[in-house]
Amino acid sequence: MCLTIPAKVVSVEEGLSGSPIRNLIVEDSKGRKEVKALMIDDLKAGDWVLYSFDTAVRKIGADDAREILELLEPRAGIDVTRLKTDFVNILKACHTRMLEREEVIRLLKTSDPIEIKALCSEANTIRQANLKDFFCIHGIIEFSNHCVRECHYCGLRRGSRDVTRYRMEPQEIVAAVADAVDKRGYKLIVLQSGDDFLYTDDMLVDILKEIKKRCQVFIFMSVGERGLDCYKRMREAGASGVLFRFETSHEAIYNTLHPGQSFRQRVELLKGMKEMGYYVASGFLIGLPGQTVEDIADDILFMKFFGVNMVTVGPFVPCEKTPLATHPHGSAEMTLKVTAISRLLMPRAKIPVTTALETIESEEGRRLGLSSGANSLMFNLTPERYRDDYRIYPNKYHGNEAIWEKYGLSKEILSYKMLEKKMLEAFV
Ligand code: 5AD
Repeated sequence: MCLTIPAKVVSVEEGLSGSPIRNLIVEDSKGRKEVKALMIDDLKAGDWVLYSFDTAVRKIGADDAREILELLEPRAGIDVTRLKTDFVNILKACHTRMLEREEVIRLLKTSDPIEIKALCSEANTIRQANLKDFFCIHGIIEFSNHCVRECHYCGLRRGSRDVTRYRMEPQEIVAAVADAVDKRGYKLIVLQSGDDFLYTDDMLVDILKEIKKRCQVFIFMSVGERGLDCYKRMREAGASGVLFRFETSHEAIYNTLHPGQSFRQRVELLKGMKEMGYYVASGFLIGLPGQTVEDIADDILFMKFFGVNMVTVGPFVPCEKTPLATHPHGSAEMTLKVTAISRLLMPRAKIPVTTALETIESEEGRRLGLSSGANSLMFNLTPERYRDDYRIYPNKYHGNEAIWEKYGLSKEILSYKMLEKKMLEAFV
């Protein structure tokens, strides 16, 4: 589902006689623009509409418009005269060339609130220029919390004895997807689980086939390290994307935090997925033990050079009874800087605000992420009775979904088509 943006109608030009399409001039914070209105009755100057790209989709009340504008409002203005020249030059340079590693490090290292504001605001402008106000809301269904891995940071690691484990039945997974698509208007859903091999390759393939038979929806698989043959079969069965983080590009840190796994193997899998034509969502954790700012710069450059289609970066959040239980959480400020720099380097990538940022910053994290270059949100659609048991880390944030969903293009075929267009563009 795509988040539509409110704008005020300035004028309405009637279409050719008999045509349901009319041209509108609308005005929002970015100025005036022309959009098409398709079958919206009684439109007149002064009304508010919701639009996405160049199409107005429905009329809304002024109060509703104010509500969504407040959710998306960028932060206060910046006093550019107080910015240092070298910093401004880097922000300018990203428009014409790839930034050097040292420049990325310079941006990451700033703790000056005015520089951070300028960085986030620049990212927000680049997002607007490249993707317009095409915000998307995607869903995630966590269908099993069993995991054979022992990742040091994760509450679902095999050794976590206190977790109440669950597995959703294939039919239950299909029904949860169908519900989200039919009743709530979702167009892209991530199916996530621990590395749980009780779901055989055949089962995952069958689940995908069943979903694709029943629903018009993009499915992203996030089922961990399985053979490339499994990923190939899932792609053929209709999976469009994968959500598969490399977690850190620092090989030694990776190998320490993932006993029995290897960074090289992880990257080989990612490459294989890309070659199969998957839309690749990948990224890393911020605040891992031993990770330096330079490592974070390398993580960002890894995403850029690998060519991820969706950037997924979040702060580490400590989870009790894991080896990293007492390690401090990753910084929200660093997460926002990484989000912004990712946007500078990857102007057209999809960048969701991650739940981990929302967890350490609540609703503010969501708003800050969206005004720092991010352009989508990922809402949790796991059935209530399982939700609390998917404890990657504690107190995972869920909030205000209903208000946000209200502005999605619920049940509109148009938003599926727009998303399809965006996804295809990712491959040109
Ligand atoms: N804090 C933040 N993110 C975590 N993940 C796992 N454990 C944690 C944690 N404690 C992330 C990993 C994984 C994704 C599914 O969840 O990056 O890829």
